[in-house]
Parts: sequence; C-alpha cells; structure tokens
Amino acid sequence: MADWDLLLTNARIATMAAKTPGYGEIEDAALAISGGRIAWIGSREDLPDGDAAKTLSLEGRWLTPALIDCHTHLVFGGDRSGEFEQRLEGASYEDIAKAGGGIMATVRATRGMSADELFAAALPRVQALAAEGVATIEIKSGYGLDVDNEIKMLEVARRLGETSAVDVRTTLLAAHTVPAEYQGKADEYTDLICNDLLPEVAARGLADAVDAYCESIAFTAPQVARVFRKAGELGLPVKLHADQLSDGGGAELAAHFNALSADHLEYTSVSGAKAIAESGAVAVLLPGAFLTLGETQKPPIDELRRQGVPLAVASDCNPGTSPICSLRNAMMLASRLFRLTPLECLAGVTREAARALGLADDRGTLEVGKRADIAAWDIHHPRELSYWIGTPQLAELLLAD
Ligand code: NIG
Ligand code: FE
Repeated sequence: MADWDLLLTNARIATMAAKTPGYGEIEDAALAISGGRIAWIGSREDLPDGDAAKTLSLEGRWLTPALIDCHTHLVFGGDRSGEFEQRLEGASYEDIAKAGGGIMATVRATRGMSADELFAAALPRVQALAAEGVATIEIKSGYGLDVDNEIKMLEVARRLGETSAVDVRTTLLAAHTVPAEYQGKADEYTDLICNDLLPEVAARGLADAVDAYCESIAFTAPQVARVFRKAGELGLPVKLHADQLSDGGGAELAAHFNALSADHLEYTSVSGAKAIAESGAVAVLLPGAFLTLGETQKPPIDELRRQGVPLAVASDCNPGTSPICSLRNAMMLASRLFRLTPLECLAGVTREAARALGLADDRGTLEVGKRADIAAWDIHHPRELSYWIGTPQLAELLLAD
C-alpha cells in the first residue's frame, strides 16, 4: 500500500504531457504527491490503495502544471514611461538607445539602487506572477553591466527565489548592451565579461545560464560567440536574444552553440528556423515586446511549426520593451498577435518553458516523478487560460516546497 503526503481527488487534469494528444485531459482524476513529487496520476477509479496524510477534494476544478515564465528581466531600477511616451510621439527604440536612453537608462537607475532597494522593487513583480499561477521564474541580469552591479542583480534574483515560494532560475545577461564607459570599445567590454565576470559568477554559482543580445545596437555575432565559448568552458548553458529588430543570424548562432532557447525571433529567416529545429532549441516568443514596440514583423510561426520547433511563451517583463508583469497576458497576446492556439499557449508556459530552462525532466507537465508544482483553476476548460483577458481564475497554487 502506498503512502502519500497529499492526495488530490475530484479534479479534472490537463497533464500537458508530450506523448498525449491535446491537453492530456483526465476527467474525474486523482493525483498523489510524495516528497514534493508526483507519485501517482490517473482516473480516480484506477487509484491504487494508499494512505494519504492529507486528502483535498478539488470539487471538479481543473489542474494544470504550475506556469513557468522562462524569460524575464524583472529586477531593475526606475521605469521607462518617458520613453514609452517618446515612442508614441514618433521616436524609435533604436534612436532612443543610440541617444543614451533605452537599456542604458535602466542601467543608470539600477546601478544607483542598493540590493535591498532592488529586492523591494522586484518582489511585487514576483508576487504578481505567483498570484496568477507561476511557480518558476527566470530572471536575467543585464542592467548592471559591470562586475559588481551584475553580481548585485544576480544576488537579488537568488534572494527573490529564497524568500518567496517561487523557484527562481538566474541568467547572466552581461552582454545586453555596451555600457557608456566602454562606448566604441565593445571588444574590451566582451573581454571583461569573459575574463572577469563569467569566471566569478560561475565560481559563486550565481547563474544557471548565460544570455546575450545579438543585435546592431548590442553585440555582434563574433562577440556573442566569445561569450558563449567561455560559458561553455565553465559548464553554463546559453540562450540568446536573437533577431528581435533585424536578421542578424541570431537563430543560426544560437543553434551553433546548442542554446537552450532562441528568444524573440521576429526577423528570423527560414534557414534560421531550420537551424533551431536541427539543434533542438526552444523558440521563446515574447509578444509583450512585439506589442510594446509596435512591431509589424512577426516571428515565422508557421515555419517554426513546420520544422517542429517547440514554442514557449514568456512575459519578457522589463521596463523598456515589455512592461507586462503577467504571464496570462503574454498567453493572451500570443494567441491574438501570433495566432498561437490556446493549446500552444498553455504548452508554451508549461512544458516548453521548462525545456527552455533545461528543466524538461523536472517540471512543466503533470507526470509521475515530476515536481509537484500544480495550479488549480476555476475554469470549465483549459483553453480559457488564453481566452479571458485580465480575469483571475487561479483557485490555488500547490508547490512542491
Ligand atoms: O528582451 N532586447 C533586449 N532586451 C530586452 C529589452 C530590455 C530593455 O529595453 O530594457 C527585451 O526586449
Ligand atoms: Fe528580453
């Protein structure tokens, strides 16, 4: 007879397991949890005999894997509402960046804040995501752009994970833009990342992955390649902000380095989509940035689908291009702007988001052995999670620890 910590009964379950069709629906289901892992899942009538320390009836509610926001920049100082206004008056994101605004404006604000101040500013963003069913959040650095401030950001991100119920995965994004003090000396700044910052971050275990921004206003492919080679030497997986504003061969570059994910992809070519498919990387779609920048060129969704590329969806929560601290809104936008189906949207914030973080074996679906991070919803069908706009339907978020 089995011993369980918690038995959930009278539930409807969308397992989101890859091998099952659709949402992997199980009507009148039960799910047993032991040691923070799923110990049994299936139809209630098949439930084996067992003793549960606690039993919870879900009263017919739907259970899905807890949501995963696999691309955020939610630790930052200040806001960029002034630039938002400027863009609506006609300025472009690139023009503002070239004039010293954009990412650099947030770098100045972030450098000017203590770790405690940054933590206090970021905590409500983490709480807002958790309140809508998010249990895992990736947080990037990239607004420090020197050794001390990048480390400060990563430490704040780690602390957010340690002090909240949410699990935080950190990503070093020192190659976000060339800081003012290195203007015209991007290669020297790349040296600083490779020789000083990366080794220290790796030695202190502060980052789970390394990201870069490959773009005309940021880093060239050879500079990104240097950062990625160093990350590889240090045993850190990579991901890339690729082809967001122009086709800079970012998708191919990400594929070449076996990146976990290639993110944005608005300007990715057919050959770029093929390269991602062959490498097995996840395409992370960020409709909040697409919306905010008023982009018209969409990621090549049909080609990515044809090539069988896994599609993830994330908030990209940041003060410049995606001031959206809501993964449900990102799902809503992915369906309206990119025409992802509700099933693709839900897979994109569960199974495929886990894969984009290198956590596919650990979470993102409701299967035996997976982490028991589970969202319970007051809905009649899981497609509603993309359908409703601004409607909170989370009944409960059950977390493994
Ligand atoms: O994902 N593209 C670069 N990075 C962010 C924007 C950051 C910013 O503008 O502050 C993005 O869109
Ligand atoms: Fe981003």
